[in-house]
Amino acid sequence: MSYGTAYERWAGVGPYYAMFPVSFASKVVQAYTLPGQRVLDPFAGRASSVFAGAANRRPSVGIEINPVGWIYGKTKLSPAPAKDVKARVKEIARLAYNLPTNVGEDLIEFFRYCFSENSLRFLIAARENLDWRRTKVDRTLMALILIDLHGNRSRSFSNQMRQSKAMSPDYSVNWWQERGMQPPEIDPQTFLEKKIQWRYAKGVPQIVDSTVLLGDSCYLMHRLGEQVATETQRRFSLLFTSPPYIGISDYHKDQWLRLWMLGGEPNALRVREKHRGEFASRDAYKEMLSNVFAQAAEVMSQSGYVYVRTDARKLTFEITRDVLREAFPRWSEKIIRRPYLRQTQTALYGDDSAKPGEKDIILTGPRA
Ligand SMILES: C[S@@+](CC[C@H](N)C(=O)[O-])C[C@H]1O[C@@H](n2cnc3c(N)ncnc32)[C@H](O)[C@@H]1O
Repeated sequence: MSYGTAYERWAGVGPYYAMFPVSFASKVVQAYTLPGQRVLDPFAGRASSVFAGAANRRPSVGIEINPVGWIYGKTKLSPAPAKDVKARVKEIARLAYNLPTNVGEDLIEFFRYCFSENSLRFLIAARENLDWRRTKVDRTLMALILIDLHGNRSRSFSNQMRQSKAMSPDYSVNWWQERGMQPPEIDPQTFLEKKIQWRYAKGVPQIVDSTVLLGDSCYLMHRLGEQVATETQRRFSLLFTSPPYIGISDYHKDQWLRLWMLGGEPNALRVREKHRGEFASRDAYKEMLSNVFAQAAEVMSQSGYVYVRTDARKLTFEITRDVLREAFPRWSEKIIRRPYLRQTQTALYGDDSAKPGEKDIILTGPRA
């Protein structure tokens, strides 16, 4: 990507595990819809599908249960003005300066290995003061902080870490200790001002009315269903999504440090709430997918398309395919294999379990 346009600069917001390539999202939207037609993604992640739809003049709606993905999506669809975000950075820096000297001492040792004292104070002030659920400026700043919260030591707030996925506290501390690595000494205000400068340098994306909702699709799809039933909204022409994989990814554990920034607990334990951890049980997984896809079928146009990218491994693939057949019984089906061409991120980090790649399931409506 050349980063020569506002679209390209904002599409990269932000690092998320198991994400679509942005160029793929745009190709699918253009191939299966016309301008003005609506796109739906009930498992939106960082909302590339919604953003691609919105930027291509297709009003789009996403739903995402993980606040990290949701903040990225909401922000790239509608970032606050740069000058307001810079002013907020300044305020947070002032609040950080006024925090008590012993702030953060109650946190696990991980935090002192991960961030310099200055950075940690700034992050704590941001965590305590940014009202990211309600205000656009605070959400935009939070999104920009989350992007570089961890990553390469020379380009982020943190000691050396992966950018897309946070490792567990004990593993990280051992790793840094073995290598004698210290957190980078940065001035958070200057650091963020430069990031803001770069992100806004080509302007902000021009998009049509689109949104991402925060919450569980099992419940929120119902709201969309009501809007379509009462004709306050038209039906969707494309259901374009990549559902979670069974027993593979835990989108909350992978993002534990970013979730701490959003007010979560300072540890990397698995989240036990419904639909918020990994899907270990076949029945619970199938029930969740059936629930969401059955409700999605109710809001789809019969002349529309379904494009689902999923894991090629047997269990996830077969369950997803069965569920889609039940939800869309009269739609015709095409499967495309997408073997990984490059080494995957998990393989790079020592996970050498078989990775056959992904499969795309494409359904065509009976009146298409
Ligand atoms: C494979 S990822 C989607 C990645 C996305 N295509 C992207 O490019 O970022 C699946 C997403 O579904 C979300 N998810 C899982 N269960 C959900 C539910 N019940 N409601 C809404 N989102 C859910 C996960 O948090 C995760 O972000």
